[in-house]
Amino acid sequence: MIHWQRTVTCGVLTEANIGQQVVLNGWVHKLRTFGDLVFIDLRDRTGLVQVVVDKQHNPELVPIANALRSEFVVAISGAVAARQPGTENSKLSTGSIEVAANEIETLNTAKSLPFPLSDEEQMTQVDETLRVKYRYLDLRRSRMYQMLQMRHRAVKILRDILDAEGFLEIETPIFTKSTPEGARDYLVPYRLQPGHFYALPQSPQQYKQLLMVAGVDRYFQIARCFRDEAQRSDRQPEFTQLDVEMSFVTQEDVLAIAEKVTAGVVKQLSDKQMEHPFPRLTYDESMSLYGNDKPDLRFGLTLKDLSDLAVQSSFALFQSVVEAGGQVKAVLFPGGASLSRKEVDELGAFCKEFGAGGLATIAVNGAGPSDFKSPLSKFFTAEQMAEIVQKCEAGPGDLICVIADAKRAVVANVLSRLRLEIGRRCNLRDPSRLAFCFVTDFPLVQWNEDEQRWDAEHHPFTMPRPEHMEYLETDPGKVRALCYDLVCNGQESASGSIRIHRADIQARVFGLLGIDAERQQERFGHILEAFSYGAPPHGGFASGIDRLIMNLLDEPNIREVIAFPKMGLGYDPLMDAPSTVDADQLRELGLTITKKAK
Ligand code: AMO
Repeated sequence: MIHWQRTVTCGVLTEANIGQQVVLNGWVHKLRTFGDLVFIDLRDRTGLVQVVVDKQHNPELVPIANALRSEFVVAISGAVAARQPGTENSKLSTGSIEVAANEIETLNTAKSLPFPLSDEEQMTQVDETLRVKYRYLDLRRSRMYQMLQMRHRAVKILRDILDAEGFLEIETPIFTKSTPEGARDYLVPYRLQPGHFYALPQSPQQYKQLLMVAGVDRYFQIARCFRDEAQRSDRQPEFTQLDVEMSFVTQEDVLAIAEKVTAGVVKQLSDKQMEHPFPRLTYDESMSLYGNDKPDLRFGLTLKDLSDLAVQSSFALFQSVVEAGGQVKAVLFPGGASLSRKEVDELGAFCKEFGAGGLATIAVNGAGPSDFKSPLSKFFTAEQMAEIVQKCEAGPGDLICVIADAKRAVVANVLSRLRLEIGRRCNLRDPSRLAFCFVTDFPLVQWNEDEQRWDAEHHPFTMPRPEHMEYLETDPGKVRALCYDLVCNGQESASGSIRIHRADIQARVFGLLGIDAERQQERFGHILEAFSYGAPPHGGFASGIDRLIMNLLDEPNIREVIAFPKMGLGYDPLMDAPSTVDADQLRELGLTITKKAK
């Protein structure tokens, strides 16, 4: 061979290259023999191309080709030729040509693989832990390469938009002190002072605020964050945020930037439909209409409050629930009147799983809104029943699902889950849509029943609405914050707030959260002090990049959009991390390991 190095990549060859002499480098994807012909599907990151070895023209090449195995790395030189009519492959971009080989050189061999890469369908059967253990093989698949490319492009677009808006990209430390974002910290022992630890950042929250004190004015970072919290399909112990902070801004300015970057990425990288400007709801509206603070707006089916009608009924349970400050609310199941008794019972069991006492239903029959079947009808007059049907916008064939509970949170939780379940069953979650919305005006704090204290709803640096400042000490539950989330298809996509920039307000909020003056100094003395040196008003947000890619690729599992993800419990099967360390290392760090009592 003259020289093994490629002159062109596999996936770019087309009919325009016919007649050209090329050198290709890549992996043997598949090998097939048909009579006098050996076909090699050669793969690199740009795609596949068919190479053909013809015994009649090149007999000496046939044994070389036949000795190849899947995933051998080869260099092949040959001439680009049109495929025989009828043998074209319309699924391949290179499907109308092939390369007639005249030289093959094996650059490296490969052992038999733990899973085959040549059959995408079979990949769904492969155990995910095995895929992650051999991620360097898994990432050879074009689907995974496209994911990496999508991440790269999304981050580039984010950088370009923010650069054009005058933002500066600044790195902040990974070895730092705890910043509360609601999860446990990952700690790193400090060798020079045994007993002292760095915390890995749950987010760059405090640093970005300090950058505002520093006068940076517009900061962003593609920031790695670390949180020791229970994993879910949209949570990883380490993940990436687009982190943004701005000075001298109102909430509107921050939301405008959050929308600009998000919509910018979606428009450039996806053909999904998106309502833009993003719709907005307050937290209270979202809770009332959807039962949660991350509504899936791909479909309607808003919750209807029947409490006023329920108190007028003769149903003691409904009356007592409402009198106790609870609610009676409903969601519509379109076409649900045809569910069997057993299916309705299953729906009831679903509701009980999430804390409901039971599920009451009203089946609206074919003849119209006055023709219904319901165990509730004996407690309501015909007019009241008709009003319920009308309020729920139920038509013939629909089922109204009613939940009552003295705890409003139970009603909200059950109905929000039931609404999503109905949406799933009725195929209402249109996959061609990305339904973004902003949810604003979150409560500043929520009551932690277990610990008997107020916890920050977002984080302790969030500014209370100015008109609610007076309730900070007297009625904290009433205080709304200058705090917002960006939600997409029922998942939190980004979150942020206008921050407290005055030391006195920050100290009051810390106080409300039960952090006494001594602990404030110990944990947050640096930020309180910084606020005393002329901190400008500021605010920002952070958007989960992994989740954005999940949305763009319709991928329900966050691990599928991360090059080297962690499995359950934070385990990395590829590196076998976390792992034990030498006794010497422990001694140096002043650490001793005690076995946990079972
Ligand atoms: P928050 O904690 O809401 O806010 O995080 C912002 C966004 O980060 C993403 N995210 C995650 N993604 C994957 N795995 C996780 N474990 C995980 N946790 C969060 C979500 C979320 O919306 N400092 C604040 C932001 C600010 O106020 O500016 C913060 O981190 O998409």
